[in-house]
Amino acid sequence: EYNTSATPDDLLDIYIDDIEIYEVRVVGDNANLPKLCEIYKEDFKVGVALMDFELKDERRVNLITTQFNSITMGNEMKPENILDYKTCSSDVKKYMTEPALNFSKLDLGMKFAKEHQLSMRGHTLLWHQQTPRWFFTKNYSRDPNAPLASKEIMTKRLESYMKQVLTYCNTNYPGIIYAWDVVNEAINVEDGIKGGYRSKDSYWYQIFGSEYIELAFTYARKYAEEGVSLFYNDYNCFEKSKLFAICTMAEDLVKKGILDGIGMQSHIKMDYPSMTDYEYAIKKYASLGVEVQITELDIDLAGNSLEDLTKLGTRYKKLFSLYQSLKETKQANITSVTVWGLSDDYSWLNGDKRKYPLFFDDNLLPKAAFYGACLDESIPLY
Ligand code: XIL
Repeated sequence: EYNTSATPDDLLDIYIDDIEIYEVRVVGDNANLPKLCEIYKEDFKVGVALMDFELKDERRVNLITTQFNSITMGNEMKPENILDYKTCSSDVKKYMTEPALNFSKLDLGMKFAKEHQLSMRGHTLLWHQQTPRWFFTKNYSRDPNAPLASKEIMTKRLESYMKQVLTYCNTNYPGIIYAWDVVNEAINVEDGIKGGYRSKDSYWYQIFGSEYIELAFTYARKYAEEGVSLFYNDYNCFEKSKLFAICTMAEDLVKKGILDGIGMQSHIKMDYPSMTDYEYAIKKYASLGVEVQITELDIDLAGNSLEDLTKLGTRYKKLFSLYQSLKETKQANITSVTVWGLSDDYSWLNGDKRKYPLFFDDNLLPKAAFYGACLDESIPLY
């Protein structure tokens, strides 16, 4: 304590040697952190996936709006949260080819983005998951045995769905969405279909064959705001067979001018894929002449020892160094990198086992992973 009554005579002469000066970081004070969206502002947008409850939590909002300049809604803009069963089934004839939609959940994220001047990745227009089966049945029936609707009806429903969602966004939130995942996860080589198309668990495929993909991109182009990039998005897309199937499919869509980018989800592990395979995939997609976005990055880490967390930091540092160097050397037009969640406690990877995949811990404190992503010199690159 400072002694205010001390006179010069009370002081002792002492020598001080070997001084080291540290920056003191106040626990819980995230205001002085390096800012990801600043670090990469010349390279690409940096985004985070969010759930609706996070938009109302002040500490989270502060962190989101200082670190990131792009957001993706983790669930709220998927078909299951937009399709309105009650209205559709109340008058099947009326809604037969023009499904009734409800935008109240979509509004949450879009309003938040607008209010905080963040850009939005629209996720996702067409997916085999999180799209209820009743949407594919002839009479909007929830009976698990109800027959599927015809291709003709589903073509109209698809166009109407895309038209309504995209028009609603263009009209109410112009300029907020910069990329749409038009089709998500349509390739699954294991299903054994020529072209690698997902078939077994996809009603889209079962009704259309692979035709729905081009249709979806055609409608998306027709109704999306000008300047919005249209993406095909998938996981494990660095695996060679999947990579080549996606490229073959995409090439044709690029030629037709209806696909602008490949979204590499990047739900990866500590030792898989190798950096070499991952880099190869980014370059391969870039060679189609399209944008590449890293759309759902997380690293499935099961331990939280100091060693584990440091290694996670190293893996993130390698990834972000790669993204930056590929962009700056013009080897890949990477336009956005999004991490799939803000803090570990709400990661979608948590199940029976707790996981530690993200930049911030349960107290919203930055982990080595965050500093790795910042390319901070405290994190070893190897
Ligand atoms: C996940 C969400 O994060 C979870 O909350 C939800 O229960 C399931 O979907 N690929 C995608 C994302 O394209 O939409 C998925 O998100 C993760 C895998």
